Amino acid sequence: MTGTCRIAVLKERAPGETRVSATPETVKKLTALGATLCVESGAGSAASISDEDYAAAGATLGSAGEVVAGADIVFGVQGPDPAMLAGASSGAWIVAGLDPFGKRERVDAYAAGGYEALAMEFMPRITRAQSMDILSSQSNLAGYKAVIAAADTYGRAFPMMMTAAGTISAAKAFIMGVGVAGLQAIATARRLGAQVSATDVRSATKEQILSLGAKPIFVESVAGIEGEGSGGYATEMSEEYQKAQAELVSSHIAKQDIVITTALIPGRPAPRLISDAQIATMKAGSVIFDLAAPQGGNVEGTVADQIVERHGVRIIGYSNTPAHLPADASALFARNLFNFLSAFWDKDAGKPVLDAEIGDAIRLTQGGKVVNERLLG
Ligand code: NAI
Repeated sequence: MTGTCRIAVLKERAPGETRVSATPETVKKLTALGATLCVESGAGSAASISDEDYAAAGATLGSAGEVVAGADIVFGVQGPDPAMLAGASSGAWIVAGLDPFGKRERVDAYAAGGYEALAMEFMPRITRAQSMDILSSQSNLAGYKAVIAAADTYGRAFPMMMTAAGTISAAKAFIMGVGVAGLQAIATARRLGAQVSATDVRSATKEQILSLGAKPIFVESVAGIEGEGSGGYATEMSEEYQKAQAELVSSHIAKQDIVITTALIPGRPAPRLISDAQIATMKAGSVIFDLAAPQGGNVEGTVADQIVERHGVRIIGYSNTPAHLPADASALFARNLFNFLSAFWDKDAGKPVLDAEIGDAIRLTQGGKVVNERLLG
């Protein structure tokens, strides 16, 4: 990089993507650090941010080609098409959610173009990187939206209501997977008045479930289960555990009105938690929201972006849940990118300089090669 660090913000091109990687707030803050922000016209329109808002914050607006020309850093919510990057500085950084396992060919193309691709979803789960973690910021909103979407599809109310015409009983909601999304789903379902229970393979989540006023439902019969792998993520469970979990779920799920599934294992397809036979035991009119739909789904029969009806139960799953809350999801995503760049901003160099702990974790490509050990291993 030479001179002022130029950051390009492109309009997202993936179908259904409504988010944008910078907001007027982060444009202002990045400009204050010493960067020049170039934003593609219309980049924020789906998130209710106009070109005028960006211009007022200090950005220069232009076409995709114009904003990428000479860029030292290209921002994205999702990784930009490598063909759009011609004209960027040599060795330019691509800072975005790059889906490194799912979009490996694109990663190879970034390497071939000589770009330094930084996958924000590979941010290590360490305290100082919490404010840079796009998985957390987006999962939190997804957990909220899953409950709202399920409530909207459910033909009954969530809270108990005592009216002159009679009493309506509270909905029973079961949250499977109590990571960032699951915790927010519990809190949201509780706020709406549901009776909430939840389960996870990590026994550490029991306390968290209780502290949110929900009931923990745990496999106790398989000894020695911790379920926690590196970085606070779950590991794949033994066959014995999976069998015990399926039995537990079968007896519990038949009594539930709303089920929200959020279970993920990094770098693997989502674990299957609910079978068609289990769905058949649920009451007609119940609703399942499968937040793992983009990773293959926790629920048999989920079809992303469709409402599927099986045995009278409606199953919903979005391919991109945060994109259903464009303004807030963009605001938090953009702040994650700002927090990342500002933490590493080197005043003398006039650009960010990464350290090894975070740099090595998120850097996918450098010097024409794929360099990340998670992709090489
Ligand atoms: P995730 O999105 O990878 O998975 C969601 C949840 O599904 C997890 O709680 C996982 O244990 C659970 N799960 C996996 N397999 C399951 C199964 N078969 N049955 C039931 N549940 C299953 O998890 P997320 O939201 O990324 O959080 C994982 C942990 O990382 C949490 O403890 C969170 O607090 C921690 N974290 C730490 C951060 C930091 O320190 N910078 C940032 C974000 C999260």
